[in-house]
Amino acid sequence: MNNRLHEEFIPEEIIEEVRLRTDIVEVISEYVSLQRKGKNYWGLCPFHSEKTPSFSVAAEKQMFYCFGCNAGGNVFSFVMKKENWSFLESVQNLANRYGVSLPEKELSPYEREENRLRRRWEEIHELATGYFQNILLSLPEGEPGRVYFAQRGVDLDTIKNFRLGYAPEGWDGLLTYMQEQGVQPQELVGAGLALEKEASGKGSRFYDRFRNRVLFSILDRRYHTIAFGGRVLDDSLPKYLNSSESRFYNKGHHLYGIHRAHQGIREEGYALLVEGYMDVIALQNAGFPNAVASLGTALTRDQAILLRRHAQRVVLLYDSDEAGVQAALRGGEILRDAGLRADILTLNGAKDPDEFLKSYGLEEFRKSLSQALTYVEFKYRILVRNRPPQTIPEKAELVIKLAPDILKVVSPVEREGYERFLSLELGLTLEAVQREIASQEQKKGKKEREQEYSHQKQVSSGKNRDNIKDTIICQADAAQPQPTVYLGVYRAERMLLRLLLEDKVLLPRVIEKLGESFWKLSAHQQIFNFLNQDGGLPAYGNETVQSCLASLLLEELDISQSERLLEDCIKGILSTQVEERVEDLQARMATLEKSGDMAGAMALLKEIGERLKRGK
Ligand code: UTP
Ligand code: MN
Repeated sequence: MNNRLHEEFIPEEIIEEVRLRTDIVEVISEYVSLQRKGKNYWGLCPFHSEKTPSFSVAAEKQMFYCFGCNAGGNVFSFVMKKENWSFLESVQNLANRYGVSLPEKELSPYEREENRLRRRWEEIHELATGYFQNILLSLPEGEPGRVYFAQRGVDLDTIKNFRLGYAPEGWDGLLTYMQEQGVQPQELVGAGLALEKEASGKGSRFYDRFRNRVLFSILDRRYHTIAFGGRVLDDSLPKYLNSSESRFYNKGHHLYGIHRAHQGIREEGYALLVEGYMDVIALQNAGFPNAVASLGTALTRDQAILLRRHAQRVVLLYDSDEAGVQAALRGGEILRDAGLRADILTLNGAKDPDEFLKSYGLEEFRKSLSQALTYVEFKYRILVRNRPPQTIPEKAELVIKLAPDILKVVSPVEREGYERFLSLELGLTLEAVQREIASQEQKKGKKEREQEYSHQKQVSSGKNRDNIKDTIICQADAAQPQPTVYLGVYRAERMLLRLLLEDKVLLPRVIEKLGESFWKLSAHQQIFNFLNQDGGLPAYGNETVQSCLASLLLEELDISQSERLLEDCIKGILSTQVEERVEDLQARMATLEKSGDMAGAMALLKEIGERLKRGK
C-alpha cells in the first residue's frame, strides 16, 4: 500500500486518534474467540488453519501476532487483512465505529467525472447481465443456451450463482435493449460490449460483440459483473470471446470465481488455480469454493498478489497437455516470487478438472489433490520425463538446473527436504547434492556482487562461505527482495530492536557504535527510523514491517541483562561488518583482476590484509 496516498486523504492526527480510540482486543474478538493468559490474549489464528492457538493479541501494545503464520500488526493491519479493506477503508470503518469523524474530502472535477463514468460503467454491466440472463432463463431465443448448459450438467442454481447468460443470434439485440434503457451505442462500445464499424459515407454502424454464445459473467467480490466471456456452442473458433479491456477492466487484475472464492480460499486455507471458466464452476459446485481461474492469460503478478491476500498456498491445477505443463511451471514461478507456496497437480486421464470430475468423481479428485507435487518436485519430474539422467555428469547437471529454485526456498528444513529428495531420486549422497547446491549459491552470490559493483551500488549482502545453512531471509517480502543475511546478524538485529523498543535511552549508544543505517533487513531499518525520529511506532506501513514489529513485541525474550545483551549485539554486528567488507574487497579485487587492472588489485589486496589485521 501507498502511505503517501493515504496521508493525502486522512491527516496523520486523525489516524492516530482512531488508533487510540479503538480497542484491538474488542475488534479482534468479533472474529476470534480469545482467551486471556497473563498479559496477552490467545486464540486460533483467523489467517491460517490450526488446532492449537498460536495467535496472540497484546492489549497493552495494541498489537497482534501469529506465531504459526507470522501474520501480525496493529488493529488496522488486522481489519485490512481480515476484511480485505484498503488502509483507507479500515480507518474509515474503525473511525465510524468508534465515533471519530473524518474530514470530508473535496473531490476534484476529474475525480468526480471518473466516479461518474465508473458508476455508469457498472450500471451498463448490470443491465447487460440482466439482459443476457433473462434470455437464458426465460425467452424462446435462449433455448440453444439452455440446451448447451443442460448438456454440460450446469443446473439452474449454478446459472443464477454465476450469473450465466446467453447472447442469441443477431447483430443488435443488446444495442436495442440498451437504447431502450437510455444507454447509447457509443457507451456500449466503451464498455467493451459493442463494436463500431465505419460504413462508407453513412457514419458508423454498431454491432453487438457477443452473438450466439453462452456468457460467463466475470464477477468481482461484490458480485458485480465487470466483464463477460462468451463461449461458442460448438467447435467453431474463436472458442471464447471476452470483453475488451478498458479503463475500468484489466483482465490481468482479476480472477474468475473470486466472488465466491475470496471467502472460500480463507475457509480452505489455500486456493485452487485452474484454467477454465467451466473448471471453476465444476469445482466450486463439487465443494471447492476456493477454485479460481486467470482470465485467459498467463497468470500475472497482480493476480498472484490478489491470491496472497487470501492465502499462503496455491495449488495449480492446469490442463494436462504440454501447454498446461508449461503454464504451470511459469505460474508456479510467479506465485513463488510473490511469496506464495505453489504446489502443482496434474490430473491423469482427463483434459481438465471439469472433465476429471465428470469421469472419475469427487473421491478420486480428492485423492489426486492430496498428491499435488511441490514446485521443485514437479519441475524435476518434467525435466527427467523424457530423458532420465544416467551418468554422473547428467545427474550433476540436473542438480544445477534445480539449484536456483532450491536456493529460493526460505525454510532451511524445506530446503533440506528437496536436497534429500534429489539425493534419493538420483542415487547421490545428500552431502554431494548439498555441496553442489551450495557451490551454486556461491556462484550466484558472486555474480550478484559483481553486477552490483558494475552498477556502482553499495553491496548489501554478505554471503557466508562455510556455513551456508545458516543464511536466512527474513519474512518473504515479494515486493522487495531482501538480501541474504547471516542468521547471527538477523538475531542480533532483532534483539537490538527489541531492546530499543523497550528502552529508548539506549538509542544514542547504538548510533554511536553502528551509525544509523546499518540494518540489514529493511523492516528493521524502517522500525529503527521510526524510533530514531521520535515518531512513536508506525500506525501503518507495509505488511512486513507491521508483522515484524508485532513479532518483536510479542516474542518472549529474556531481556533482563539488557546492558550485556546490547554490547553482545553490537559486537556481533560489527564483526560481520568486517568480514563483509573483506568479502566485498575480495570480490572487487577479482573484478579488477579480470579487467587487467593489476595495480588496482594489488592495492586492494594490501587493504584487505590491513583490515584483517586491524579487525575493522
Ligand atoms: P480452454 O480451451 O481450456 O476452455 O480455455 P475451457 O474453459 O476448459 O472450456 P470448455 O471446457 O472447452 O468449455 C481455458 C480458458 O482460457 C480462456 C478462457 O478463459 C477459458 O476458460 N480462453 C480460451 C480464451 O479467453 N479464449 C479462447 O479462445 C480460449
Ligand atoms: Mn474445459
